[in-house]
Amino acid sequence: MKFSLSNRPLDQQTKDACIVFVHNKKALIQNDGLLAELIAQQIKSSRFNGEFAQIQVFPTLGKSPVKNIILTGIGNCDCFQAETIERATAAAVRSGRKANLCSFVAESGTVRNGLSCVKFVHAVARGAAWGTYHFNTFKTQKKQAAATSLTFAGPCDDSTACRAELTAAEHEATALFSTANLANLPGNIATPQHIADHAQKIAQETGLSCSVLDKPQLQKQNCNALLAVAAGSDQDAKIITLKYEGTDKDAKPVVLVGKTITFDSGGISLKPGKGMSWMLYDKCGGMAVLAAMHMIALLKPKNPVVGILTVAENMPGGGATRPGDIVTSRSGQTIEILNTDAEGRLALCDALDLAREHNPAAIVDLATLTGACIVALGHTASAILGNDAKLTEALIQSGNRAGERLWELPLWKEHMDDIKGTFADLQNIGKSGTAGTITAGAFLKYFVPDNIPWAHIDIAGTAWEEAPKAWAEPGATLFGARTLIEWIQNMDTAAE
Ligand code: BES
Ligand code: ZN
Ligand code: ZN
Repeated sequence: MKFSLSNRPLDQQTKDACIVFVHNKKALIQNDGLLAELIAQQIKSSRFNGEFAQIQVFPTLGKSPVKNIILTGIGNCDCFQAETIERATAAAVRSGRKANLCSFVAESGTVRNGLSCVKFVHAVARGAAWGTYHFNTFKTQKKQAAATSLTFAGPCDDSTACRAELTAAEHEATALFSTANLANLPGNIATPQHIADHAQKIAQETGLSCSVLDKPQLQKQNCNALLAVAAGSDQDAKIITLKYEGTDKDAKPVVLVGKTITFDSGGISLKPGKGMSWMLYDKCGGMAVLAAMHMIALLKPKNPVVGILTVAENMPGGGATRPGDIVTSRSGQTIEILNTDAEGRLALCDALDLAREHNPAAIVDLATLTGACIVALGHTASAILGNDAKLTEALIQSGNRAGERLWELPLWKEHMDDIKGTFADLQNIGKSGTAGTITAGAFLKYFVPDNIPWAHIDIAGTAWEEAPKAWAEPGATLFGARTLIEWIQNMDTAAE
């Protein structure tokens, strides 16, 4: 989708549709001419009441150069924020696209409830771009994707900053679309090798460096926890490292680590059949890291960033790890594998040990780690746990600005004790069988030195949509990528 700014007011835009947000039954529109009148009439005479994600498309029937109006509800909450605006825009564009509308216009000066003009424009652009995403790789009858555009009309507080934000949104969309097409691929196609090939191709195109550890190298490096996950699969494990140098050569890098299980059958602790196919999305931590690295390569922030994908397929083949097996992780700590379905933490712990060696300013890992996270928070927020209050807060704030909600859970001594092993140093599931998201976090904490700020984000409930939503089709959301880029770019401004 192409973005632009235009000084001409909304009612002089010859576009397929204008997008108008409706808050508390009131259209957020500065234009007080004919368009405002048409909208007021429509709201009065229809059932549209501006509930969140409620949409109404209607034609202007030649009364205005804009051919259609799309009303998109943002509810009646006074505390709406970037997330609401982003989703409401995505919903508007999705229904517009269904009606074959291609060129959209929105007012840049709309009432914004505390969001700056720049942040408002960014949220709208991001939502509009995602609203056009469609995964059709496996449809044999493909419709040609139409070129789409969004113009921001009317005066804006800071057009230079807004223009820069729109370029950024275009780059973000490039990275998100490319990674979503990978994240949505099923396990028979998106194998560890396929993901390594994709990462190398993106690195080559964008100037990142990329290295891949294969099975013999992982054996040499003692990554036995990760290797134990892949032991029952025909596909070998990999660790993919992407590096962005940054423009500030003296700064310590931020290291992002992503769980990338290309399919999680549970292994010998086999999952029940119902819904197992969704476990093709168990690679989404790694996909969020890959999307973030792709965005970073295009947006070129100051700070150096390293992205590590820890990749394996969890299958119950003849060589599979058995419950009760003991492995020595790369860190030297021994682990009793009591449940082979708690594989994410095994894949992550060796990658965290590698991350430590980059002398990082901070480590952030993302993982579809625990079903318990969905029990705790549902599908509306991801859990965040860590060892550094400032880092956690910075990520939560970045998430709020990026339209991704994070909610902190504690990591107390009792949780650290719960994951200690009987016959080895650690075990891969808690003894108490409670607080599943926290004990998983506690396990990971054993692999990060206390003096390195670290945060773990559990995206089990947010990494994909199972049913169509007004603002998205089913499939990968790449939750986390937007927060990471927001956080990393904000480091630049915070340092200035
Ligand atoms: N990938 C799953 C977690 C998951 C489940 C993510 C559902 C998204 C939706 C993970 O590997 C897993 O199976 N975890 C186990 C841990 C348990 C055995 C301690 C779980 O959550 O049941
Ligand atoms: Zn599992
Ligand atoms: Zn898993």
